[in-house]
Amino acid sequence: MILSPSLLSCDFGRLAEELAALEAAGLEWVHWDVMDGMFVPNITLGPLIVKALRKRSKLFFDVHLMIEKPERYLHEFVDAGADLVCVHAEATVHLERAVAEIARLGAKPAVALNPATPLSAVEYLLPQLSMVLVMSVNPGFGGQSFIPFSIEKVRRLRAMIDEQNLSTLIQLDGGVTVENCAQLVEAGADVLVSGSAFFSHPPYDERHLAFQEAAGQSAR
Ligand code: DX5
Ligand code: ZN
Repeated sequence: MILSPSLLSCDFGRLAEELAALEAAGLEWVHWDVMDGMFVPNITLGPLIVKALRKRSKLFFDVHLMIEKPERYLHEFVDAGADLVCVHAEATVHLERAVAEIARLGAKPAVALNPATPLSAVEYLLPQLSMVLVMSVNPGFGGQSFIPFSIEKVRRLRAMIDEQNLSTLIQLDGGVTVENCAQLVEAGADVLVSGSAFFSHPPYDERHLAFQEAAGQSAR
């Protein structure tokens, strides 16, 4: 299982140190929650911040765009150093065009689905996607409770991906804890995002291990 800590719950006053601490703790991915106050009621950060930290971190930058019309900023986030760019199916009219553009720019393309958005929204895109992000909370804030039907959604998505014999990753994002991660991995999730349940329990190396052990996996 890949754990991708969500920076939304980190100490933003020490962002560079936090990223360094994640790296030192053996994390490989870090999850950037970009919010514009339009697609979601919260505002966080933009490409300038990602760019500033890119030169100071070797982590895989997993960038989750919770912004309206993300096609306007794909180039800027890839240029800033995003390794993966995830756009919401609900945030753009021309989803396939946005996915193709991310790939053309040289980053890994991913699509996020809000809790009520059906899997059919990505059915025809799966061969082009590095990852599908299944939101297990309504986007905008950390510390929310896991929406239980997300598990069945992951199970069905896993079946869709396996049926097409694809290597598309499944990411679950929102309300992920040490206590629920085993059943999420068992349902078919490859990447788990954790914000509050991770950053509220330093030291990060021990917390990372706790997640991996709970998920029944060797540390990755
Ligand atoms: C919510 C974000 C999530 C969130 C996860 O809109 O996409 O990444 O930060 O935080 P927790 O793990 O606290 O639910
Ligand atoms: Zn996120």
